[in-house]
Amino acid sequence: MKNIVEIRNLHKIYSGGTHALKGINLTVKEGEFLIILGLSGSGKSTLLRCLNKLIESTSGDIIVNNEDVVKAEGKNLRRIRRHIGMIFQQFNLIKNLTALTNVLTGKLGYVSLGHSITFSRHKDDVKFALENLRRVGLRDFSNKKIKNLSGGQQQRVAIARALMQSPRLILADEPVASLDPATADSVMKYLGELNKKDNMTVICSLHFLSLARKYGTRVVALKDGKIVFDGKPTDIDDKRFKEIYGEETEEVKIR
Ligand SMILES: Nc1ncnc2c1ncn2[C@@H]1O[C@H](COP(=O)(O)OP(=O)(O)OP(=O)(O)O)[C@@H](O)[C@H]1O
Ligand SMILES: [Mg+2]
Repeated sequence: MKNIVEIRNLHKIYSGGTHALKGINLTVKEGEFLIILGLSGSGKSTLLRCLNKLIESTSGDIIVNNEDVVKAEGKNLRRIRRHIGMIFQQFNLIKNLTALTNVLTGKLGYVSLGHSITFSRHKDDVKFALENLRRVGLRDFSNKKIKNLSGGQQQRVAIARALMQSPRLILADEPVASLDPATADSVMKYLGELNKKDNMTVICSLHFLSLARKYGTRVVALKDGKIVFDGKPTDIDDKRFKEIYGEETEEVKIR
């Protein structure tokens, strides 16, 4: 299988001086469902955000889809990002607009809150948006406003929006952190389907080992900005678990 992500000796030092990533080396193959585990502050979000240059790395190489992300600027960066879907913990949807409209904003790439909202009304785009809502089980909810949807449904809208770019790679930063376990599982199920049926590569940070075991083909654990484990989810035994999480509560493991 082809490498879709290659990270070499990646460092990120924030302007305040926090050294959040300390020499990350990571290669991800097409079709993997990679779970990033690690305590709060270990660098998961920083790593995911460096991958599509939502934040600038300090040094090291990042290659995604054979493109140099570190060097990319402007138009070139937008083109690279078009093949990378991004899903956040806070769904980043526009609450007063319908599910369909939110999905349509995905056609234009990233929409950050506070910026003016633009979306396509082209009939091919509308058709594709409805198809993507169907893929996440929400075809009948297209005209509902986001604020009237449950947390799990909202996150599925966020997945449908990411699909508008037909991404080869999906980055999901704790996509289920604010959901109850059953709802979290149903959202993960849709990501799992995209991975299996469409061969989309997924890189997803999570807090819970049980979900990592159920959906991940591989787990990378971060601790204090370094990779402390890289292997199969089933290889995380109690000893490994303590290395990753210290003496954290059992709850992390069970959920
Ligand atoms: N914008 C920022 N400016 C300065 N420091 C930051 C910034 N974002 C994160 N950090 C610091 O970088 C380190 C890694 O943070 P990061 O958000 O990547 O961790 P995380 O593993 O995603 O944590 P969580 O599980 O809480 O989301 C932390 O020490 C954090 O305080
Ligand atoms: Mg985070």
